[in-house]
Amino acid sequence: MLRDPLGFYDRAGRVDADVVGYHVARTRGYFLTHPDLVEQVLVTDAADYEKGQLLYDTLGQFIGEGLFLLEGEEWQRQRTALQPAFYRERIETYGETMTDFARDTAGGWTDGQRVAVLPEMQSLTLRILGKTLLDVDVDATAATLEPLLDALRDRLDPRTLSAYLPLSVPTPVNRRVRRTRAAFESTLDDVVARRQREDAATREARDDVLSLLLSLDDETMDRERLSHQLLTFLVAGHDTTALTLTYAWFLLANHPEVQRQLHAELDATLDGADPTPADLFELPYLDDVLTEVLRLYPPAFTVFRQPTQQVTLGGYDVGPEAQLTLPQYLVHRDARWYDDPDAFRPARWTDDFEADLPDYAYYPFGGGPRHCIGMRFARMEAKLAIATIAQRYRFEAGTEPPLDLAMRITLAPAEPVRVRVHERG
Ligand code: HEM
Repeated sequence: MLRDPLGFYDRAGRVDADVVGYHVARTRGYFLTHPDLVEQVLVTDAADYEKGQLLYDTLGQFIGEGLFLLEGEEWQRQRTALQPAFYRERIETYGETMTDFARDTAGGWTDGQRVAVLPEMQSLTLRILGKTLLDVDVDATAATLEPLLDALRDRLDPRTLSAYLPLSVPTPVNRRVRRTRAAFESTLDDVVARRQREDAATREARDDVLSLLLSLDDETMDRERLSHQLLTFLVAGHDTTALTLTYAWFLLANHPEVQRQLHAELDATLDGADPTPADLFELPYLDDVLTEVLRLYPPAFTVFRQPTQQVTLGGYDVGPEAQLTLPQYLVHRDARWYDDPDAFRPARWTDDFEADLPDYAYYPFGGGPRHCIGMRFARMEAKLAIATIAQRYRFEAGTEPPLDLAMRITLAPAEPVRVRVHERG
């Protein structure tokens, strides 16, 4: 599993059973590959499960006090406090920033240029997050954040020893993480100090995620806690959306007929204007493209859980020490629910098809009380970015399928994804 996690998942997917057990070292684990079991764990019996030791051991020292890993009352308190930043009406006010930054990204390319897509999309989604959720000077903040997020990606790569060593062991990657985290925390100190100097009226008018977090703890906010809370949003919201966009360009470039249909829809609806959140209602094919991208390449390739007591899953007794893997990556490609499951076919998402699809045969954003708080934000961001960029450019495939994938903290391409961009007349 450590050498080839994706191969391990593929083998579990080939076993003709909905509960597939395994042992790794002293860990007893189970893959749950039936939508009914996914629903049982995430929704119906959600109270019997926690995020679990495995996640806590790897991520706890960076984001243990953030929304993603907290449990119980403290999780509920944070989730309730932060929810307003993700209401539909609030998110729609971010639309212009999303489109503006996407236009800037496209504006940096020239006709016929070869582009390595992932770094471009990472920079785009980081700038969007910084401006919309934290309302900070994005260029200055990106300068301290990018090195930290890079170092964390390396540190958390499960194929390397570093993922299993305490941060205090002075390996090169641990030293990088500590150095870049210290720089991030000192930037954070400046941002917080600036906020504290604002007059009460200005402070109260703010409703970005950073100000909601600061108001949670009033005077007592400690720096480490705030760093965990903010890093949670940066880690959860940055690469996931950047990867979604990267897979979208890869798939569109390799499926010219889908790309043509998307261009036709954009031209008919927008007629060259930049998209607004309201326009997205008139772009159903774009919606299907995104849905299908997230089916084939779910950046969160699995949800982990651990039961808090003995439970019964699919007729098997499972003890509280068990590590449960609910793999979107397998369920989304299961031929029981999807015809020709490996094919990129946005047109499959008809109303009839969706009505017949079992609940939780599709869950790129998880489900139940712990579902992704950023789902609406991410879908809107991805669609506005695709619409803005695809109006200006046609993408020609550089990297061709099959795409080599790597299971890191997210599902990432193992090779650079390249395209050639052509200006549209
Ligand atoms: C395509 C992009 C995204 C995907 C695929 C994705 C996926 C997920 C999934 C599967 C979960 C549930 C994990 C679990 O149950 O263990 C989750 C939770 C979460 N996501 Fe996202 N996410 C995306 C974008 C975002 C964005 C843009 C943000 C923030 C702006 C965000 C913030 C979070 C947070 C804070 C949680 C924890 C919620 C809680 O436990 O209450 N995500 N995400």
